[in-house]
Amino acid sequence: MEQEFNFNNELSGKIALVTGGTKGAGKAIADRLEKAGATVIITARNHPEQKNETQHFISADLSQTSGTQKVVDEILSRYGRLDILVSNVGGSETKAGGYAALSEADWMHSRQTNLLAPVRLDRGFLPQMIRRHSGVIIHIASIQGRLPLYDSTLPYASAKAGLINYSKGLSNEVAPKGVRVLTVSPGWINTTSSKAMMERIAESSKMTLEEATQSVMDGLGGIPIGRPAQPEDIAEFLGFLVSPRANYLTGTEYVIDGGTIPTS
Ligand SMILES: NC(=O)c1ccc[n+]([C@@H]2O[C@H](COP(=O)([O-])OP(=O)(O)OC[C@H]3O[C@@H](n4cnc5c(N)ncnc54)[C@H](OP(=O)(O)O)[C@@H]3O)[C@@H](O)[C@H]2O)c1
Repeated sequence: MEQEFNFNNELSGKIALVTGGTKGAGKAIADRLEKAGATVIITARNHPEQKNETQHFISADLSQTSGTQKVVDEILSRYGRLDILVSNVGGSETKAGGYAALSEADWMHSRQTNLLAPVRLDRGFLPQMIRRHSGVIIHIASIQGRLPLYDSTLPYASAKAGLINYSKGLSNEVAPKGVRVLTVSPGWINTTSSKAMMERIAESSKMTLEEATQSVMDGLGGIPIGRPAQPEDIAEFLGFLVSPRANYLTGTEYVIDGGTIPTS
């Protein structure tokens, strides 16, 4: 049967959560879903720099169980359900210097933010999705899940690898119950946090910012398309993945990296 899609309003009536929706890729995704008609909820530890009256903001630290629980409770008590969950919060704050520079706390913090926050949110929102036989969950991972930058971000890379693996297993369990689970693994995105990471590497390795940037580019083997992604490049694809146009997609990982990963 042929389906007709209304791209501008295709998410009308949907309730969508984008964690880390105040900056970078998360902000672009939140704006994209809102443009498609969704009611959008965003979370972060700090309030957004520019107030957006049309998006519901929840302040929470998602590296803590109390933070994820707050988000689940607030959304379910206010809206009664969630249709689209984009687990976008993540990142690496660990220092350069190889394995010996990484403490137990570095490993635990990366794991809490990049793996356990999405797991806890899924646990909170899945029961009502399964009851309604409807829902989409997107986990934002990273190409580092396959291509680790071992000098500075190994805890992050291994947590993202765990997220990709978890995502596949979860999708097998919940696809027959009407919930789609997908992973998006970006390469380098031009955001304030990727810039901050270069500054950290430059400082701890006694390099200039240009040298640090080049060393990360070299570690990745270059970006064939010739530039990092803009947050909107990621958001546009997300707009498709959560829409009814993608209703046969589940259990897959989508790499958006301008060709960075050297194998297909
Ligand atoms: N940038 C890249 O090159 C790149 C590459 C591959 C994958 N990714 C992935 O893409 C996603 C987005 O990255 P990005 O670079 O767009 O991020 P970003 O610009 O640093 O924004 C991160 C967002 O998450 C929030 N956040 C961070 N830690 C949090 C915590 N513990 N609890 C609650 N909120 C938290 C931030 O707000 P507050 O600081 O106010 O909490 C902000 O809204 C991440 O999962 C990242 O791993 C990024």
